[in-house]
Amino acid sequence: MKALILSGGKGTRLRPLTYTGAKQLVPVANKPILWYGLEAIVAAGITDIGIIISPETGEEIQLKTGNGDRFGANITYITQDQPAGLAHAVKIAQPFLGDTSFIMYLGDNLIQDSLGTFLDQFKEQQLDGLILLRSVKNPTAFGVATLDAQGRVLKLVEKPKIPESNLALVGVYFFSAEIHRSIAEIQPSARGELEITDAISHLIDRQGNVQARELKGWWLDTGKKDDLLEANQIILDSCVSTEIAGELDDKSQVNGRVSIGQGTKIINSIIRGPVVIGKDCCITNCFIGSYSSIADTVTLIDSELDHSVILQGAKIEGIHQRIVDSVIGQRASLQRTHHRPKALRFMVGDDCQIELT
Ligand code: DAU
Repeated sequence: MKALILSGGKGTRLRPLTYTGAKQLVPVANKPILWYGLEAIVAAGITDIGIIISPETGEEIQLKTGNGDRFGANITYITQDQPAGLAHAVKIAQPFLGDTSFIMYLGDNLIQDSLGTFLDQFKEQQLDGLILLRSVKNPTAFGVATLDAQGRVLKLVEKPKIPESNLALVGVYFFSAEIHRSIAEIQPSARGELEITDAISHLIDRQGNVQARELKGWWLDTGKKDDLLEANQIILDSCVSTEIAGELDDKSQVNGRVSIGQGTKIINSIIRGPVVIGKDCCITNCFIGSYSSIADTVTLIDSELDHSVILQGAKIEGIHQRIVDSVIGQRASLQRTHHRPKALRFMVGDDCQIELT
């Protein structure tokens, strides 16, 4: 059994954060989203893992993630020249996958359920496909499954305008080598992509043994800002424990579960967990509220923050109005220079969103 993680694509939905980086490397609780999938796969006992990367962001993913040693895995990187679809990614990975069964995992998805139980069922019942489903409020944004009265999958449609059910396809799939034969038969969709949903429908039409299971725990597709904040909240809730490697002066207060990385200095500040703060940050005269993640080398001075994600190297100074539900990109700078500003001065990149609420 092998695994294939899809970490290519253009990631346009997380712009502008992903102009400069891979959306799969955006951190949730200071750890790249992609790594959660990798760890879940290794925890299920699979160590031979291929990662699909794009020419634009592949190098960054390789540099950060490495050859797999730190995960106890052996990683093979496979470059996909164009984001020509999920089934196209499987097609170009065929030399790596060979005739083995495999888990396909979308690099921007996070699920709570462990993979082991699904993997056991997939193996024991010798399935050709096992897909995971979750009811959602906005099925038009996903692949959607239609089931019969016995719960068998009848068909799958990618982002239908008029969905036949509210059961979305989660980005974690289990396949036997039969999927390659279906991928070889399908044509690109109207949006020009080889769709994995079409390949699975084809497999069902060929009498392949495809089953579906509903996820029990949470599932997050971190492609959008609010999903990213929700993922951050859920992971901070379940994973952060108090671990203080940095320095706190005696005017600072830490309540609840807070992790502070090495080299970080906290001066005259209040931190209310769950909060995770990376390495070499400088936090002076601040309030940091629950569900905030602050990456390495961030500077925060005279500011208030709540339920937000601050990426590496960002600097926020003098913003006494509380910053809430925000994602601040790498090396971004937010500063108030006068006590009572008479004007707001911006240098805002393409596609940024600023709300003065
Ligand atoms: O998140 C679940 C949904 O994921 C499913 O419900 C849909 O059926 C499935 O098509 C997919 O939809 P998305 O629109 O969310 O896919 P996205 O373009 O965001 O790509 C998902 C991941 O796969 C992402 O990490 C980028 C990577 N990718 C994507 C394409 C199109 C590749 O590596 N190569 C590609 O060609």
